Amino acid sequence: MSEKASGEHQEERHRPDVLRRYRSASVQVNWEPQFCIHASNCWRNLPEVFKPRSVPWITPEAASADEIAWVVSACPTGALSYERLDGGPQEPAPPTTTIEPQPDGPVYVRGRLRITLPDGKVREATRAALCRCGASAHKPFCDLSHSRIGFRAD
Ligand code: SF4
Ligand code: FES
Repeated sequence: MSEKASGEHQEERHRPDVLRRYRSASVQVNWEPQFCIHASNCWRNLPEVFKPRSVPWITPEAASADEIAWVVSACPTGALSYERLDGGPQEPAPPTTTIEPQPDGPVYVRGRLRITLPDGKVREATRAALCRCGASAHKPFCDLSHSRIGFRAD
């Protein structure tokens, strides 16, 4: 999510434990702002649906369920997920686990993930952006603190 975003998107950015749902006749998009960082894949790939300066910022009726499923699956943090309401395929679990460090930023992980949280709960997910700078206030997840501290991976 862009740090410059305004409106609902920016406001929700700071609220943990929020799950927002945006529904059309064919698909429901779920957004958990506590995991959303400056990845921006969603609005770069489907700007007619993901509009960080608008309220609501996600309008799933503006594209097909297939297009939305593709873009949501590209969200590296797992902040976005979807549920098909039209009988189409739900998001498949990745067949392999991949780990991709980002330049001077988090580690993107994809797979059948079971992430143990500080309170002992387990989050099951297929995508996550994990902190590797050590400064996140939302460990084990990245919260963009790497930008604030000027983290350098090398
Ligand atoms: S792609 Fe995911 S992490 Fe990036 S701005 Fe969109 S919802 Fe947030
Ligand atoms: S890598 Fe993003 S907060 Fe640590």
